[in-house]
Amino acid sequence: MLASIIALDGPASSGKSTVGVLLAGRLNYLFFDTGVMYRAVTLAALRRSVPTADESAVTELAETVKIDVMPPLFNDGRQCTVLLDGGDVTWDIRAPEVDGSVSQVSAYRRVREILTDEMRAIAKRGRVVMVGRDIGTVVLPDAELKIYLDASAEERARRRHTELAERGIDKPYEEILAAIRERDRFDSSREHAPLKPAPDARIVDTTGLSVGQVVSHLLLLVKAVAIQPSG
Ligand code: DC
Repeated sequence: MLASIIALDGPASSGKSTVGVLLAGRLNYLFFDTGVMYRAVTLAALRRSVPTADESAVTELAETVKIDVMPPLFNDGRQCTVLLDGGDVTWDIRAPEVDGSVSQVSAYRRVREILTDEMRAIAKRGRVVMVGRDIGTVVLPDAELKIYLDASAEERARRRHTELAERGIDKPYEEILAAIRERDRFDSSREHAPLKPAPDARIVDTTGLSVGQVVSHLLLLVKAVAIQPSG
């Protein structure tokens, strides 16, 4: 029997979403990118002019907004559809303004608790590839398979640069690299659920590997931890 819950963590632009969606497709599992939840709360704050530095106002917002994550529904390159209070925000949550504030929002303890509860409820259904930063350490410490994807900051900046260019956004590589380093520093040094591999996570360095190579490697890991059914 294959692991029913796969936790896939790693830093910004390590390829977790690209790889996660393919892995989920190969296994016929639900792909759930948990970063979209923090992004949706951040977008809600920006739209309502709630300062993202105001922890209690952002927490209140996280308690009241309704976020839904569903299968793609449209064939426009999206990996899932994200609804914020019923409106489709799938692409809006990828805006540079959201990139700039989401780390701050995701550092708030109560915001994390609220969103973590929602993530666990989805994972309970099983057959899920759950992608994030703290899935193996905090959200699902009992996941049967935990994978931590990594890649050098330079490689991740190159990937992000290409990804933005494909969407017609021209941002200098150096600027992207600096932003990635800053987010790494922030995400790994925050007090609540900092970015780090779980002690029992399989660490996979994707620098120089193609997406196909990484997916094949992960499928091997999934097979390697196949569980004996009890009874
Ligand atoms: O993976 P991403 O760039 O969409 O994540 C957006 C932000 O949310 C990023 O600052 C890290 C944070 N995040 C988190 O803290 N925990 C998760 N499980 C997922 C994302």
